[in-house]
Amino acid sequence: VFGQRAYHEKVVDHYDNPRNVGSFDKNDPNVGTGLVGAPACGDVMKLQIKVDEKTGDIIDACFKTFGCGSAIASSSVASEWIKGRPMDEAVSIKNSDIAKHLSLPPVKLHCSMLAEDAIKAAIKDYKAKRAKAGTEASQSE
Ligand code: FES
Ligand code: FES
Repeated sequence: VFGQRAYHEKVVDHYDNPRNVGSFDKNDPNVGTGLVGAPACGDVMKLQIKVDEKTGDIIDACFKTFGCGSAIASSSVASEWIKGRPMDEAVSIKNSDIAKHLSLPPVKLHCSMLAEDAIKAAIKDYKAKRAKAGTEASQSE
């Protein structure tokens, strides 16, 4: 009954027209994958980044979210915001900024938290992958 009204129009827009839905090959060395879940509701979000290894800039991003409208909208916003940004900047995006942008009600704050966690997890995965590749390269020398 209050379902429709509870969602702000920006949420509906991102839900109806989510940006950057899709996935990259997680074995691509320039791709970082963040897979996170919300214990509160069981929703799952996968966010992936493609990084320019020379500059550390996120050149592309995509996501797949199994979850509520706010979680889908949050991942859509997150993917838009991180594209073209250096990883070091993207990592400091706050769930409160996403929540504010979408005017999420308090009960939906954990949905935007999922997006913040997913960004951090994707960057962490990318860095771990590069570090591992670096170790392997120096070992084979
Ligand atoms: Fe999580 Fe809607 S899918 S509450
Ligand atoms: Fe759980 Fe939105 S209700 S992510």
